[in-house]
Amino acid sequence: MTSQFGPNYVRAIAPYVAGKPISEVARQFGLDEARIVKLASNENPLGMPESAQRAMAQAASELGRYPDSNAFELKAALAARYDVPPEWITLGNGSNDILELAAHACVERGQSIVYSQYSFAVYALATQGVGARHLVTPAVRHGHDLDAMLAAIADDTRLVFVANPNNPTGTFIDGATLEAFIAKVPGHVAVVLDEAYTEYLAADKRYDSIAWVRRYPNLLVSRTFSKAYGLAGLRIGFAIAQPGLTDLLNRLRQPFNVNTLAQAAAVAALGDTAFLEKSAALNAEGYRLLTAAFERLNLEYVPSDGNFVLVRVGHDDGAGDRVNLALLKQGVIVRPVGNYGLPQWLRVTIGLPEENAAFLAALERALASA
Ligand SMILES: Cc1ncc(COP(=O)(O)O)c(C=O)c1O
Repeated sequence: MTSQFGPNYVRAIAPYVAGKPISEVARQFGLDEARIVKLASNENPLGMPESAQRAMAQAASELGRYPDSNAFELKAALAARYDVPPEWITLGNGSNDILELAAHACVERGQSIVYSQYSFAVYALATQGVGARHLVTPAVRHGHDLDAMLAAIADDTRLVFVANPNNPTGTFIDGATLEAFIAKVPGHVAVVLDEAYTEYLAADKRYDSIAWVRRYPNLLVSRTFSKAYGLAGLRIGFAIAQPGLTDLLNRLRQPFNVNTLAQAAAVAALGDTAFLEKSAALNAEGYRLLTAAFERLNLEYVPSDGNFVLVRVGHDDGAGDRVNLALLKQGVIVRPVGNYGLPQWLRVTIGLPEENAAFLAALERALASA
C-alpha cells in the first residue's frame, strides 16, 4: 500500500524480513511445534545460559520500577572486561539499536553511507532510515572488498559499516587487513565494526579491536548478547567507542532502551565463560558436520566463521524458495536469502547435533523432490 505520510525515503524502506517463528510454521503447515527445527535466526541452540536465567529471576522483583538508565552494573562489568572507561560504552536494545543509533548520530539526510553487497540487511535499512545515499560496493567471494569500500568513500560519506564475520555470508577479514583499512578511512568518517559473531572465532583468528578503539576516535565496535551469549529474546547489545562518538549515541538513545531483565542477564552471561566456550565448541563441531555433508552432497557453500553457513541449493533463481518450502513442509526453518540477491542459496544456522541431523535429512529429501 502506498502511504501518503512521511518522507519519500521512509516510504521506500523494504521492511526487514525476519526468520519465521516456530508457531507460525506450525499453524501454516499443520505441524507439531515440538517437532519443528528452527535454524533461521542465528540464535544459540543451547538457549539462555542458566546463570542468566537465575539473574533474571532475581531481577524480576524490580520490574515495577524503570531500569537503570545508565546500566551502572553492566557498564562496570563491560568496562572491566574490555579495559575501557564506562563512558566509552553505549548499550542498545540489541546491537540492531546500536547500528541505527550510529547512522542517526553520524549522518544527515542526503549524505552517504558505504557498505558491502551481501552485508547485513540492517545497514541498508539504517541508511534508508536517515535518508542517506547508499554506496554499496560489489562483494568479492561473498565478502567485503575493503579497497573498493575505501575508494567508494565520497566527500559526503560519514559512515562505513563493516561486519566481521559477516551475516549472511559468514566471511571473515583478518585483523591486520582490517586495521590497515580502518587506518586509511578519513578521520571524519565513522567506521562501525559490527562483531556480532566474534565470540565464535577460532583462537588463531581473534584480534583485539578494542585496542583499535583506543587508537581511532572514528571507530565504533558493536557487539551483541544475542548470539553466543544466548540472549536474543532479551534484546541487548553494546558499542565501544571513544567519547566523541559515544556521547552522540547516548544523546539519541531512548533513556530506558535496555530493560532491567536484559541488564541483569547480560551481567551474568558476561561472566559465564564456560557457557561461551561450550557454545563455541558446539558450533565448531556442527560446522564440521554440516560442511562435510555439503561436500558429500556436492553443494557449494561459503566457508563461515559465524554460527551459520550459506549453502547453494540449486542453479536457478527459484532454487532457494523451492528448497526452503520443501524444508518448511518437513518442519525445518532456515533462511532464504533472495532478499540479499542470493536466490540460489539458503542460510542455515548451526544447531544442536540432532537439529543438524534433522536438517540434513530434510535437505536430502527436499533436494530429491524440489
Ligand atoms: C551482523 C549482525 N549484526 C547485528 C545483528 C543484530 O543482532 P541483535 O540486534 O540481536 O544484537 C545481527 C543479527 O542477526 C547480525 O547478524
